[in-house]
Amino acid sequence: MIIGSVSENKEIEKRISITPEIVKKYINLGFEVQLSENYGKHLGFEEKQYNEFGVKFIKDDKKLIENADIIVQMSLLDEDRNSILKAKQIFIGVLNPYENKNKINELLKKKVNLFSLELLPRITRAQSMDILSSQANLAGYKAVIESFSTFEKAIPMMMTAAGTIPAAKVLVVGAGVAGLQAIATAKRMGAIVFATDVRTASKEQVESLGGKFLTVEEAENLETKGGYAKEASEEFKKKQEELLSETLKKIDIVICTALIPGKKAPLIIKENMLKNMQPGSVIYDLAAAQGGNVVFTEVDKIIEKNGVKIMGERNILNRLPTSSSSLYAKNVFNFVSNLYDKENKKININLKDEIIAKTIIK
Ligand code: NAI
Repeated sequence: MIIGSVSENKEIEKRISITPEIVKKYINLGFEVQLSENYGKHLGFEEKQYNEFGVKFIKDDKKLIENADIIVQMSLLDEDRNSILKAKQIFIGVLNPYENKNKINELLKKKVNLFSLELLPRITRAQSMDILSSQANLAGYKAVIESFSTFEKAIPMMMTAAGTIPAAKVLVVGAGVAGLQAIATAKRMGAIVFATDVRTASKEQVESLGGKFLTVEEAENLETKGGYAKEASEEFKKKQEELLSETLKKIDIVICTALIPGKKAPLIIKENMLKNMQPGSVIYDLAAAQGGNVVFTEVDKIIEKNGVKIMGERNILNRLPTSSSSLYAKNVFNFVSNLYDKENKKININLKDEIIAKTIIK
């Protein structure tokens, strides 16, 4: 059984799916591992680190793709390499099926087995494979680091002989995985942290991290059975707007993380609300690629409005590619391991397994 991965287009994706530390685990399972030449070099992973465990480097991606039984990537391949995939091969990645319908249909027609990891159910058994959590966690951390370094004042309170600098005040909008990590990171760096969410369950989590939860009064709990957010009603949005407009007057940095699965990100910070913020404030919009939580967000740009800097990137994890690859590679390995029948040494696409049934694209 050969598992392979080809180099991503490094202009847009610096993360990799197979790190040297994970190779050993594939070999122990009985796999042969094949990679493109210079696969992890940009992250400081030299071929000799991989060679130690017997990885084969293949010069020609076409051959690599043809030979592999399983191909693991961050996302779908470009047209040229995508067309090489053939029946019965297994392709695993973050395939974004709603946006990549044509490429996916082409592969399904050829009977390639496609697994899209963002569709994993959030059940206990799948936690070690949960790429949304591992990547969102790092994104929440990095959004704080990026916004703090753009902010031109100190973050913690500093009492000096020359006077006192007050602690920066941070608002986190959306207290899911990324938001909770943003709260923890901002707290550790000495900020005073406020947070809000449409799911009432998040209040306790925010408070346990030392954040102050801002509750939209008399609002219903907008949580689905699966633990995700539902779209808010007009009445809720109005109340949330009033609450945040007032809060923003005292906030220095906002980290936006609000998402609704399968939908455009909710617009939460509008033009009139921005006017309440002090010049010099910074907003990092982690929802930028999904349409943004802030009215002026533009992907990969820093926009300045009334002295407030609004920033957001298509892929913030490209700024943290080594850590995010390390976790992604482990998530993928755990997924492959679950697909593999260790006794009979073959892949078993068991559709009775919720993890497999929910991630396979049909
Ligand atoms: P997400 O990335 O889809 O959304 C981020 C956050 O934005 C969520 O907390 C959501 O409630 C919030 N949000 C949406 N619309 C909003 C609005 N208008 N205003 C304010 N906030 C808004 O969610 P994420 O981070 O992936 O987690 C969602 C849920 O999944 C949580 O309940 C979490 O505990 C659960 N989860 C479960 C895991 C498991 O393995 N059992 C693993 C990871 C998450």
